[in-house]
Amino acid sequence: MDMKLLPQRHNSFNFMSSILLLVCSLTFIISYMCMDVNCLVTINGDNESNDRVALLAFKNEITQDPPGILSSWDNSNSSLHFCEWGGVTCSRRHPSRVTGLYLNSQRLVGSISPHIGNLSFLKILNLNNNSLNGEIPQQMGRLSRLQGLDLSNNSLEGEIPHNISGCSNLRYLYIVNNLLMGRIPNEIGFYLPRLAFLSLRGNKLSGHIPASLGNLSSSLVQLYLDYNNLEGRIPGTLSQLTKLKLLALESNRLSGFQNLVGLATLFLDSNLLTGSIPTGIGNLQNLGILHLRFNKLSGIIPSSFGNLTKLFELDLRHNKLTGLVPSSLGYCEFLQKLFLGNNRLSGSIPEQVFELPSLSGVLGLSNNSLTGSLPVEVERIEEITDSRLLLDVEGEHHSGSTRDTRRQIMSRIIQIGVKCSSELPTDRSCMNEVSVDLQALKDQLQGVEM
Ligand SMILES: *[C@@H]1O[C@H](CO)[C@@H](O)[C@H](O)[C@H]1NC(C)=O
Ligand SMILES: *[C@@H]1O[C@H](CO)[C@@H](O)[C@H](O)[C@H]1NC(C)=O
Ligand SMILES: *[C@@H]1O[C@H](CO)[C@@H](O)[C@H](O)[C@H]1NC(C)=O
Ligand SMILES: *[C@@H]1O[C@H](CO)[C@@H](O)[C@H](O)[C@H]1NC(C)=O
Ligand SMILES: *[C@@H]1O[C@H](CO)[C@@H](O)[C@H](O)[C@H]1NC(C)=O
Ligand SMILES: *[C@@H]1O[C@H](CO)[C@@H](O)[C@H](O)[C@H]1NC(C)=O
Ligand SMILES: *[C@@H]1O[C@H](CO)[C@@H](O)[C@H](O)[C@H]1NC(C)=O
Ligand SMILES: *[C@@H]1O[C@H](CO)[C@@H](O)[C@H](O)[C@H]1NC(C)=O
Ligand SMILES: *[C@@H]1O[C@H](CO)[C@@H](O)[C@H](O)[C@H]1NC(C)=O
Repeated sequence: MDMKLLPQRHNSFNFMSSILLLVCSLTFIISYMCMDVNCLVTINGDNESNDRVALLAFKNEITQDPPGILSSWDNSNSSLHFCEWGGVTCSRRHPSRVTGLYLNSQRLVGSISPHIGNLSFLKILNLNNNSLNGEIPQQMGRLSRLQGLDLSNNSLEGEIPHNISGCSNLRYLYIVNNLLMGRIPNEIGFYLPRLAFLSLRGNKLSGHIPASLGNLSSSLVQLYLDYNNLEGRIPGTLSQLTKLKLLALESNRLSGFQNLVGLATLFLDSNLLTGSIPTGIGNLQNLGILHLRFNKLSGIIPSSFGNLTKLFELDLRHNKLTGLVPSSLGYCEFLQKLFLGNNRLSGSIPEQVFELPSLSGVLGLSNNSLTGSLPVEVERIEEITDSRLLLDVEGEHHSGSTRDTRRQIMSRIIQIGVKCSSELPTDRSCMNEVSVDLQALKDQLQGVEM
């Protein structure tokens, strides 16, 4: 019996293994066929199912979606193709590949899924003005077709991934107002040759500004690194950025600044700039706006400012500048706003400055040791005052009508001052008139909310 049973058992084992083998083969063939389909899909440049999966994975990391823009992102709703989902745009040439994700200002809460890196046709990713937290996934660096990335106004933490270097087609990168820490990756300068607009304003970035940014010489137009904790010298390589029009570095702990020829706008307020303003400043011939306020600059205002013939706004307030106001400023024929207050300037204001027909905006001179009388030309100047009374020193803007009234009052006080300080006593106003005028102004002032 035993002898008989053994082969029988053996036979049944054989039978079972045949079935198993058949099942395995079928599985193998089916899976091989599936692989083949996948291959075809990939060859067609149509990773359609990948994009759907990536979008659903993205949604999965969003915990709150008050306006419900992602409610159409539903796998079970077969009536709606994912290219029709809210905020999604697809390619025309590859109709099932996602090229744009526009989910800005949706009050989304949650984090950014690493699956975002699978949307390999993505060109624009805009998640601006949400409440996204967590880190920027490294997989973002797989998006080699990405041209625009805007993650501004969120609560993203951690470092900027070095893998961002993979996004070699980026034109703009905005990660304004987040909680990013660490250094600015060197890779940005080495591997993003098309980058025209880079703004990392308002984070907690530290360390030096990478010298490699100078490599973006044929692309970079605007660079905002302001309101961070950056330190060290501003790298000289930035002077290679011949297309750069705007450089905003204010409110960091930077020192030293270089000649940035071609620059039209330079914001360096609230840093640790020390020493004197280099004479070479006169080489920045395209400069229209220069803000150096709230630094520790000392020495004189170089007369080479006179070469900045396109300058229309110069703000040197709150430094330790000494000496005379250079008469060469009179060559800055487009100068509209000149702020020199809170320095240690002396002497009188050169008449060449007052004679500037353009200077109709603001002339702030308060808290210096300036002497001499105000020439009659001052009557053309709309505002000549401690600008804190009218404008923005503390960042406070007054409503239009209040400001206009104040401006009128200030302007009249200055006119009275001018009349009282004429060289010849016979040209001066009589005290009776002055006291009547001042009384009227006082009444008017009391009617204005200060
Ligand atoms: C399709 O997806 C696979 C896997 O994610 C990837 O390796 C491949 O590059 C993609 N193909 C295209 C054309 O994007
Ligand atoms: C499918 O999505 C559309 C558009 O968002 C919606 O109107 C419809 O109710 C959905 N259908 C199901 C079954 O979820
Ligand atoms: C930010 O989003 C909120 C809520 O959607 C919206 O009210 C606000 O206007 C947005 N701000 C900007 C600058 O777009
Ligand atoms: C998509 O991305 C995730 C996370 O990076 C990865 O684990 C997964 O393999 C990717 N899926 C496909 C189909 O490429
Ligand atoms: C990040 O970049 C490195 C180097 O290019 C690469 O090896 C790694 O796979 C990338 N990581 C991700 C998550 O894409
Ligand atoms: C970010 O938010 C601030 C304040 O809410 C707003 O003024 C600014 O316009 C926003 N920035 C962008 C790029 O939307
Ligand atoms: C890029 O920048 C680095 C640092 O300034 C420099 O050493 C290197 O030569 C630059 N490379 C190119 C191609 O300009
Ligand atoms: C302007 O620059 C030239 C040299 O480029 C110099 O000779 C001249 O003195 C400068 N003018 C002023 C007002 O600084
Ligand atoms: C005037 O400037 C000095 C520094 O030069 C500063 O200490 C002082 O606080 C300033 N006064 C006013 C009223 O701003």
